Amino acid sequence: MRSIMVTGSNQGIGMQTVRQLASTPNVLVFMGSRKIAAAQEAKAGFESDIHPSSSVVPVQLDITNDKSIVAAHATIVTKLKEKNLRGLDVLINNAAIITDSFKEVYEVNVFGTAAVTESIRRVHAIFATASLRLAVWKFVSLMDGIL
Ligand SMILES: NC(=O)c1ccc[n+]([C@@H]2O[C@H](COP(=O)([O-])OP(=O)(O)OC[C@H]3O[C@@H](n4cnc5c(N)ncnc54)[C@H](OP(=O)(O)O)[C@@H]3O)[C@@H](O)[C@H]2O)c1
Repeated sequence: MRSIMVTGSNQGIGMQTVRQLASTPNVLVFMGSRKIAAAQEAKAGFESDIHPSSSVVPVQLDITNDKSIVAAHATIVTKLKEKNLRGLDVLINNAAIITDSFKEVYEVNVFGTAAVTESIRRVHAIFATASLRLAVWKFVSLMDGIL
């Protein structure tokens, strides 16, 4: 199963991306949205398109809010573990704004995107450490059997 996170996906291109990905087999799609209700409502609109072997999980995520990023990270890790997956395969940094405020645009499109990307990198680190521990344990068990 492939796992994918799409930020800012309660509407527009992000929502269509989630919809299309979820219509293919064996995909777990995390649907990031500033307002969880907006993601749930959007998901309800294309529920019938979701492939029976795939699922869409709405996740509250404001990419400019540290607490929201930490909570989204925890939700993703929990769900990946539930599904026996070893990490997130793809992050689609879709969330963005266009305004006349240079500062606001940078806060969302640059610093917010960087913060989410960094957080997802830590998801990988968690699973990589777990895999390394398992590999070491297997090696030690093997050596135990040989020696
Ligand atoms: N449409 C185009 O022609 C076009 C062209 C080139 C590039 N793009 C890029 O494609 C992407 C999607 O475009 P779109 O037209 O689908 O835009 P859109 O309809 O305005 O959707 C943007 C999404 O980003 C979310 N978002 C904004 N600020 C956020 C934040 N701080 N945290 C989390 N989510 C946030 C919005 O959430 P809310 O609903 O809560 O506001 C919304 O879900 C953007 O990166 C855009 O720059 C679009």
